[in-house]
Amino acid sequence: MKPGRFITLEGGEGAGKTVNLNFIRDWLVQHAGATVRVTREPGGTAVGEDIRRLFLQQADLQPETELLLIFAARAQHLHQVIRPALARGEWVLCDRFTDASYAYQGGGRGLAQERIAYLENWLQGDLRPDLTLLLDTPPELGKARAHGRGDANRFDTETERFYVKVRQAYADRAASEPQRIQRVDASRPLPEVQQHIATLLLQWLDLL
Ligand code: TMP
Repeated sequence: MKPGRFITLEGGEGAGKTVNLNFIRDWLVQHAGATVRVTREPGGTAVGEDIRRLFLQQADLQPETELLLIFAARAQHLHQVIRPALARGEWVLCDRFTDASYAYQGGGRGLAQERIAYLENWLQGDLRPDLTLLLDTPPELGKARAHGRGDANRFDTETERFYVKVRQAYADRAASEPQRIQRVDASRPLPEVQQHIATLLLQWLDLL
């Protein structure tokens, strides 16, 4: 049996993750003939969705609490969804994963990377995404797009400074893992963004 592949989608707020997630799923089904399991973090399991509500709505969470909640949801997700799907040879397409913890809890909240790396190594072992697409937008544009989406959460009231740090942390990760993390300029019109995504996916498939 061919091994499953693990693809993640990352980016700041209002980067167009939802519409592009659907595009990537359809593209993979069509071009790779893969069975694609779409999931998200925080969430993806019953426990994870409960944690998501708490994580997104509860006021006054300490940065450490945020990080531990995210990894609690992730532990459940890895055990119940991600690892079993990969073991069946399915492709897992996940809306955010551990890079988001480095960007938001590390960059945004200022928690030390080593803390995050410790939890990552403990819970994931050597499991890392095979490919990560990073939808990059300037924070002011993302905020304008996210505004009026109607699903407001705790992160929507964060300052622009917070999002500048999140974006920088994503950029640092992309620079340190240029093979795995591919940046897409998501400030361009959607057809151009999707053309770029398709090109990146095609190049990546060729390498498999
Ligand atoms: P969403 O906007 O993709 O639905 O994600 C919900 C929020 O959760 C988003 O503002 C980013 C945040 N988040 C973290 O802070 N750390 C994480 O590790 C993940 C997966 C998400």
